[in-house]
Amino acid sequence: METKVIKVESDNPSLTELSYCAEIIRNGGLVVFPTETVYGLGADGTNPSATEKIYNAKGRPSDNPLIIHISDIKDAEKYAFVNSTYYLLAEQFMPGPLTVVLPSKDTVPLTTRGGLTTVAVRCPENKIAHELIRLSGVPIAAPSANLSGSPSPTSVNHVIDDMYGRVDAIIDGGNCDFGLESTIVKIDADNKVTLLRPGKITVEDIEALGISVTIASAVTASLADGETAISPGMKYKHYAPKSTLVLLDGDNDAIISYIKANCDKKVAIIAYTEYLADFSDTNDIDVYDFGYADNNELHAHLLFKILRETDKKQYDVIYAPVPKISGIGLALYNRMIRAAAHKIIRL
Ligand code: TXA
Ligand code: MG
Repeated sequence: METKVIKVESDNPSLTELSYCAEIIRNGGLVVFPTETVYGLGADGTNPSATEKIYNAKGRPSDNPLIIHISDIKDAEKYAFVNSTYYLLAEQFMPGPLTVVLPSKDTVPLTTRGGLTTVAVRCPENKIAHELIRLSGVPIAAPSANLSGSPSPTSVNHVIDDMYGRVDAIIDGGNCDFGLESTIVKIDADNKVTLLRPGKITVEDIEALGISVTIASAVTASLADGETAISPGMKYKHYAPKSTLVLLDGDNDAIISYIKANCDKKVAIIAYTEYLADFSDTNDIDVYDFGYADNNELHAHLLFKILRETDKKQYDVIYAPVPKISGIGLALYNRMIRAAAHKIIRL
């Protein structure tokens, strides 16, 4: 398939270019677009044959449902049964990096929601995403625009690596601001809120509204044998770099000594800026700068980029520190334990 790459200014998007892309969506085609979290692979969420193309382009199992993206928080009512907690969350955090899972209306085809009775709804803040949805006049179903199992794309080059030739158009809107996918919460009919995937909107942010949040056990742990995934995405291998990633949990001296004692192989490390100098004499190691230890926003911004860079080389092992699990750290921890397939060495 021929893929058009279209550059659009993220601050002041050209409506001509976006109208052309909206037309592709309305005609059942695929358009990759930037959001404030990661790039999305979009199609008309109300058109089953269009959403089926998404699963094919990504190589994604058809029981792993898609998020539908809307441009106005009230549009959720067309596709889902909303309640007061939805509006409490939507008024505070939307447009923005929050997705809510609600009971679905029949207006959403089963293909879009992976056969579930619920649907995930998100109203992105990125201007390109917002205008594309508005001009399309339909909810845009969009998973992250990576091949299934790769880190989500946060720049247009990542998208081109994975999706060129598989989609009708790719909108180049520069680098995604945040760099990790949206926070997902499920809202039950009795207003109970469960965190399914951590992101920029933190548990602390939601609890500050007086809403108590249950964290699904799979957010920080692997599924137990026989346990059913509350979100189908939890059961699939995710974000895996090609080389083995191992997380090191301990104080910095312990981490540094461990790496120095274990660098006889081809090793890469993802290290906090303040510790880069400690590795300057070990020239066999490739060091990826993760930013200062207290800068979780920067870690979120860099994580998938670094994982994709390591994929261009072949390492026997990549070592990275275990993030602290509060605030945005919970999102980093969740992505990193998956990328490492739960290989953590406690030092
Ligand atoms: O930031 C984001 O959310 C990006 C951008 C493009 O919006 N999208 C994204 O989509 O990350 P995706 O498909 O890569 O991840 C969505 C996750 C999947 O793990 C899926 O299983 C889960 O959301 N999900 C979707 N619908 C669901 C539902 N009805 N119930 C439970 N989990 C659901
Ligand atoms: Mg994804």
